This record gives sequence, C-alpha cells and structure tokens, in this order.
Amino acid sequence: MIDELWYKNAVIYSLDLETFMDANGDGVGDFEGLIRRLDYLQFLGVDTLWLAPFQPTPNRDNGYDISDYYGVDPRHGTSGDFVEFMHQAHKRGLRVLIDLVINHTSDRHPWFQDSRARNSAKRDWYVWADRRPADLDEGMVFPGVQKSTWSYDRKARAYYFHRFFAFQPDLNIENPEVRAELRRVMGFWLQLGIGGFRLDAVPFALETVDPARGPGPLRFDYLTELRRFLQWRSGDAVLLGEANVTPEEVLPYFGGDGGDGMHMMFNFYVNQHLFLALATGQVDTLVEALRATREIPAEAQWVNFLRNHDELDLGRLEDAERETVFRRFGAEERMRLYGRGIRRRLAPMLGDRRHEELAYSVLFALPGTPVLRYGDELGMGDDLSLRERDAVRTPMQWADEPQGGFSAAERLVLPVVGEGVWSYRHINVAAQRRDPSSLLNWVGGMIRLRKECPEIGRGDWVVLETGDPHVLALRYDWRGNSVITVHNFARTPCEIELDPAVPRGERLSNLREEQELAADRDGRHRIALDALDYRWYRVGGLDYAVRTPRPFTSSRAAGAAGSSAPRTRRARRRSRSR
Ligand code: GLC
Repeated sequence: MIDELWYKNAVIYSLDLETFMDANGDGVGDFEGLIRRLDYLQFLGVDTLWLAPFQPTPNRDNGYDISDYYGVDPRHGTSGDFVEFMHQAHKRGLRVLIDLVINHTSDRHPWFQDSRARNSAKRDWYVWADRRPADLDEGMVFPGVQKSTWSYDRKARAYYFHRFFAFQPDLNIENPEVRAELRRVMGFWLQLGIGGFRLDAVPFALETVDPARGPGPLRFDYLTELRRFLQWRSGDAVLLGEANVTPEEVLPYFGGDGGDGMHMMFNFYVNQHLFLALATGQVDTLVEALRATREIPAEAQWVNFLRNHDELDLGRLEDAERETVFRRFGAEERMRLYGRGIRRRLAPMLGDRRHEELAYSVLFALPGTPVLRYGDELGMGDDLSLRERDAVRTPMQWADEPQGGFSAAERLVLPVVGEGVWSYRHINVAAQRRDPSSLLNWVGGMIRLRKECPEIGRGDWVVLETGDPHVLALRYDWRGNSVITVHNFARTPCEIELDPAVPRGERLSNLREEQELAADRDGRHRIALDALDYRWYRVGGLDYAVRTPRPFTSSRAAGAAGSSAPRTRRARRRSRSR
C-alpha cells in the first residue's frame, strides 16, 4: 500500500560504505560497521539512508564502475551482511535507497568482456562503432581528466562509447535483453527490501548514441518502463533521479503531467543558486530558481542538498555568477575541478558556524525533501591533497582516537583528516554528542523541527515579499496549517515586515525559541534579524494540547477546573521551548 507519499517528508542521509565505519579492521568500511552505527543515525533523526554503490567493483570511480550487479563487494562484507543490515535498518524504521548505475558498467564486467568478441551474443549490449567517430573528443563529463567519449578496443577491433571514463563503457539500453537484465537487477534488490533507487546519471542513461550521427533523442519511454516495473514490484518504492538539467527540461523526467517518471529529482538548479546566494548575500536569483522549478506533477518531489560526494557543480550559473562563487568559495585553483565545480566540503567553504547554520536551516526550509551528506552534520573538512573528488570523501570522524575511530587499520582506503582545524581530534561524533551546543546536536534539533513541519514537504508555498534583497521568506500551507521561515543571507542585521503577506494581528509562534509572538502592538509583523539569522514560525498557536472531552467530576464542580488552566499554559510553554 502506498504509505502517504512518505518520501515527501523524509530526511535522507547519504553515505558511502567505504568510508563510514570499518568493523573488521582492513581499512575499508563495511556493512558490519554500518550496522554498529545505525543507532547513531537513529539518534540523529534521519529516516532514510542512501547508500553509494557497494557492489563488486574495480573501484576506479568510487564504486560507480560495477562489475557484478548481484552482489556485495567483498571489501564491504557478504550478501548475508547486507541482509542483516537491512533487517537492522528496518527494525529502526529506516528506509534504504541504493544507487542504480544503468548508464554503464565497469570494463571488467563479464558482459563487456563478452561483448568484445565480434560474434558474441552480448555484442550489442554496448555501443560499438567500426570507424573512428568524428565526435570522439566531445561531450566529456570530466573535462581536463577524461580524454574522450569513444575508445578503441583492440580485441573488438572497434570503438566503444563511454559518456564517462574509458573504463565505464555505456550499456545499450535500446537492446531488449539489456532492459530485461536491468529489470532483474531492480527486482533483486527490491526483493531484499530496499525502498528505492537513486538513478545515476539519468540524462546519459536515457540517451541513444548513433556513431554516425552522435547522441539522439532521450528515451523517456524507458524511464516509464522502469517506473512501472518498480511500482508493480513494490508499491511504495521510489526513484530518485540524478539529472542536472535546466528547469525547461525537467518535466519529462518526472513523467510529464501524468507523473509516471521519477518520484524525486535532486534540485541541482536550486543548489547552485543557493550557493550563489550564500556567496553574495542576495537572494533574488535563488528566488528565481525556486520559481523556475516550481511546476512539477502533484506526486513528484524535489530533493534539496548542500553538498554531495561529487564536486559542487556550478555549470548552470551564468559565467559571471560562477566566477563570483569561485572567488568566494573556491579561491585557489586546487579547490576547483572540471572547470565548473568546487571540490570542497561545506564547512571549510562557509568558514563559520553562523553561516553553516544559515545554510542548513535554508536546506530544511526549501520546498522538497532534504538530504544530508555524512560528516556535514559535524562540520567535517576536506583534504585537497587527494585526487579529484576524493577530497570530499575522507572517512567519517567518530572520535579522537587513531584513524578518527573509523578503523583499526594502519592504511585506509582514503586517509582521515588528521591535521589542522578540521582534524578528527577537534571534530568528531564522540565530542559533539556530549556538547549540547555542538553542530551535531543543532542539526539533530533542526531535523526534529523539519519533521514537525510536514507543510514543507506536502504543502503549497509562496515567497513572501520582505522588501529586503537579502532575506528569503517562505510560507507553506497544508491542510489548514501554515509555516513561515525567514532567512537573512546578509552579514548585517536588518528588520523586515511580513505585512501584508501575514494578516495583521495574526499570531506567529516561534518554533525554535521561547519568544511567542512576532506581531507588534499594532498587529504588524516586524521581525528584527541579526546577521545570518533565521526564524521558523507557525502561523497561529502551537496547539500541542490534545483536546479530549473532560468527564464531569465532583472536583470540577467544586471549581478546580478554573485553577487547572494556568497549569496547562505552563505545560504548553515548556513544550515549545524544547
Ligand atoms: C554520477 C555520480 C558520480 C559518478 C558518475 C559516473 O554522476 O554521482 O560520482 O562518477 O555518475 O557513474
């Protein structure tokens, strides 16, 4: 049964098995380690995990080069460990999304190895060209690192197409056998209890490539096929798409008005404009981006994020805008990647706690479902001495212990950050758990707050006029309840007025602080904001009290009811300040 569009108010946590927790001491994270850390994730308050690829892989692209879709890479454990993990996750009410990489396989995959023989039954599973394609060095996803999109294979005596690196040959999704096999892959993991897939590199997975004519139209019918199969197998499983496309291109990815495509898509467009707003302190282009991505089918949802496991891609900004973000957050050449992005984590980019809180608070307040990146809840740093995107993939910092408590091994899959202000000595779970004012505990509080506001995931929203170019004010309405969030992106204080958006005299209850009303004596809503300040209000009272008809008793008749009224008010005040 469809569980009330659960994904619309989920809080997703993304992690990579490899760098999360190593239980067996071989320097690589594993399922047993992840199982031991599920209580931590439950304590944090997230309800959905997204696991990066963990299947067998030569691991030349962080596992996004799969050599067997039906197993677990031995470095992470066994299929038995996976099933145990699923059991433990479900026991704690956590749903699990996994990556589905269907655009390409590893070149080590037996399918590709078979395909290299000219007369093989699998020949047509990949995209081959007998002659040297003219566009061989066009359309690279990793410019500056990737050399071409077609490579010659001696054994095959032909060129094969690869949108990504040469060791990631593209599958031919026009081949019905390939489609049938990928359905089996989906069916396999769904049967093991996963809650859905993060569909990798969707625009490329849907493209068809003709060696003579280049890329053809996108096969959205294939997306519909995937969605239908998914839903037949598991009624409430979801597809979350990675498609960094323009707002004009979005609709077919959601399946058009019928909504039979992806349930959710990462909002890359808003992400990039959010970083522009964080860099400049001005919110106008962010507001435009929100409006440009507003119209999506009723059951579809955006997923918002701050950082992920890749570079912060700024490719959708105007050149001058991108330069502004580069200057502010990626000033040095070594911080930049592929000409369009920044390979840094959130905390070092923003540089101070206030800015981080603002960014996180906005993330939770944006229309859609939030996803957090492991370690960002602690304010973990990056390691720019590492290769490309590895800079932002260092192991989770659990404690001020050797290897940050991640592993007992001497050599790790990637080194922990052990020097300087971002070192695990200063930034780790153990220390932050105990400190009530830590970023970790603050993030936990924000997750609880977001969960108290289902209006954000489900409701209608409007941007409220504040008259201040640095302030983003959003109002959500759903089933008679409303929430207003206000964020000051400037490093200077300001005062805004929410009238006429909020009717005069209407109560605004602060959801984070004791302060009850934001309305002045004249009934207007003037809000004084500090630099980088943020507010969450519920329109009207908080109304925690459950109204059950009280039975008539003799003590009530004696007038005790009157004296109980102040007690009720005190109790309600306490609940608000929690
Ligand atoms: C996606 C992943 C990225 C990977 C690429 C190729 O963009 O996010 O990490 O390198 O696909 O699979």
